[in-house]
Amino acid sequence: MNKLPMLLDCDTGVDDAVAILFTKYLNTLELVAATTVAGNVEVEHTTRNTLQVLELAGMGHVPVYMGADKPLLGETVTAHHIHGMNGLNDIELPLPKRAAEAMPAWDAIYEFAKKTPGQLTVVAVGPLTNLALAIAKYKELPGLLKRIVIMGGAAVGGNVTPAAEFNIYADPEAADMVFTCGAPVYMCGLDVTMRAYVTAQELDEIAALGSKQAVFARDVMQGILQFYCTYKLGGVAFHDPVTVLYADDDSYFQTDHAGVRVETKGKLTRGKTVTDLYSDKQMEHNAYVVTNLDREVFKRRVFEIMAQYGE
Ligand code: RIB
Ligand code: CA
Repeated sequence: MNKLPMLLDCDTGVDDAVAILFTKYLNTLELVAATTVAGNVEVEHTTRNTLQVLELAGMGHVPVYMGADKPLLGETVTAHHIHGMNGLNDIELPLPKRAAEAMPAWDAIYEFAKKTPGQLTVVAVGPLTNLALAIAKYKELPGLLKRIVIMGGAAVGGNVTPAAEFNIYADPEAADMVFTCGAPVYMCGLDVTMRAYVTAQELDEIAALGSKQAVFARDVMQGILQFYCTYKLGGVAFHDPVTVLYADDDSYFQTDHAGVRVETKGKLTRGKTVTDLYSDKQMEHNAYVVTNLDREVFKRRVFEIMAQYGE
């Protein structure tokens, strides 16, 4: 099957790193570029991390474009307490053999969309600042994209505040611009990503596959695993990796057409993805919300992909 092009916009922290490893062995998508944004850690670190993990994956040919170092408005938010000081659970990978390209991320998103009109899937697993800047600069961009698949938001709950998930909370104005841009937007929020968990034992089973990439995937997730264990969860949510798997094959997921807008003014609710799943009267149905998955199929895909690194 001819694979369609995919651009990954990421704030490479630990789960973004595993998502990058997954992009090498997808069934329907081929990674053609990566763009980086400030989020889990500063954009200099997310960019270096992205370059390093692409090289670890044997994808050093994929160009990387550095993006926004802060949100459109408001204060910069980071998550060093989860991702470590360097963003990779303080694992030191070999220094990257190359640098990011000169073009900024928001121009690169447009250039790759123009190359393949109607074909490019943008998978965004960090704050949506780069996409918002690209949409603001190039009005025709939404019409050039096949779809935008984001890790972010939640129909119910949050992980930074009771109302907001990190990627949306980090830049609510950018997120609302993406949800209202007119391109098909698919939201892989906490509703589905918290169900896409991997247990400590399963992480060790991944490492036992034996490749350096499999061992890295287990090691890089140890810090966030401890964080989740303090919340008595069954394992660590594979937020970004499951979003990449969804973009590749959504057949084992529950997806509903819904209305989604982002609260940008609320004192307690800033960054909430206000989601109208059930009525079709209050909000225009402008997005698709992913709410569930078959975890056994998810787990099988995780092991299938990571096993290919040893072959
Ligand atoms: O809330 C989880 C999301 O925020 C993930 O994308 C994680 O990498 C952080 O960016
Ligand atoms: Ca991320």
